[in-house]
Amino acid sequence: MKGIKTLALGAGLGSLLLSAAWAEGLDGKVIGFSQIGSESGWRAAETSVTKAEAEARGIDLKFADAQQKQENQIKAIRGFVAQGVDAILVAPVVATGWEEVLTEAKEANIPVVLLDRGIEAPEDLYLTSVASDQVVEGRVAGEWLVAAVGDKPCNVVELQGTVGSSPAINRKQGFEEALAGKDNLAIIRSQTGDFTRSKGKEVMEGFLKAEGGGANICAVYAHNDDMAVGAIQAIKDAGLKPGADILVVSIDAVPDIFSAMATGEANATVELTPNMAGPAFDALQAYWDAGTVPPKFIITESKLYTPTDDPQGEYERRKDLGY
Ligand code: AHR
Repeated sequence: MKGIKTLALGAGLGSLLLSAAWAEGLDGKVIGFSQIGSESGWRAAETSVTKAEAEARGIDLKFADAQQKQENQIKAIRGFVAQGVDAILVAPVVATGWEEVLTEAKEANIPVVLLDRGIEAPEDLYLTSVASDQVVEGRVAGEWLVAAVGDKPCNVVELQGTVGSSPAINRKQGFEEALAGKDNLAIIRSQTGDFTRSKGKEVMEGFLKAEGGGANICAVYAHNDDMAVGAIQAIKDAGLKPGADILVVSIDAVPDIFSAMATGEANATVELTPNMAGPAFDALQAYWDAGTVPPKFIITESKLYTPTDDPQGEYERRKDLGY
């Protein structure tokens, strides 16, 4: 709680206190982090990276795992407000239902930074949102598929993320935009797999059964790699070759998808960096040190990876990063 108060005092006491605040950085700040849970490898990596980034900066990070429930996130945020933390990070499980609790944080003068997912709420309720452009992610995945199939007819099945979450809504939209006007491609089935490997597998099993054992499916688009890995297992169990009989395109760039790519079982992924906390902490530091108000959206890169991008090397580079 030192930064803002030191700056306010510094305005009256001259540059000495102000420069003390500049030197202080985030050391000693108390920051609450309401994390969604651990539904995917990407989520596990984001948790590890956030803890490491906090430690490196001397931040006392109060971590709360919501186990996929918005009500737990709301409770955690209320707890952080009651404790008087300096700032709150939230990875919001769904897009709606945040106004009341974020108003409470705002009234307590606690800046809130959203990580990796967006919300439908007035923008003055949070300082900034560090996330990818999820519509772009979906579009990049869709454009890859459009180019990969060319003029061939292609029935696509879609594994959606958590219902009501911003990545599920936006990745669907972006993918559909890429396929718009391509008469040879059609999304024939679409269902949530909740961003988990087990549900991805279960839903893909249902798709395969309903579509002639898979004979009628040309590609699976999964809103994250974990569901794609589950789908790959279901395709193999059905006696087909993932990556060849059924193309596999997804999002996240976790080590396991590179492993699948290296053996020809996955075809493309769009990278989502797990380091949302680094830019979030930088923004908070600039805000406290110099009063710099960050842009409302800090957008991370969405890079496409295919088997030509050294998947084995990518697997090796990522395998110990907390995924
Ligand atoms: O919000 C980001 C998404 O959440 C990741 O793509 C997915 O793996 C996670 O569950």
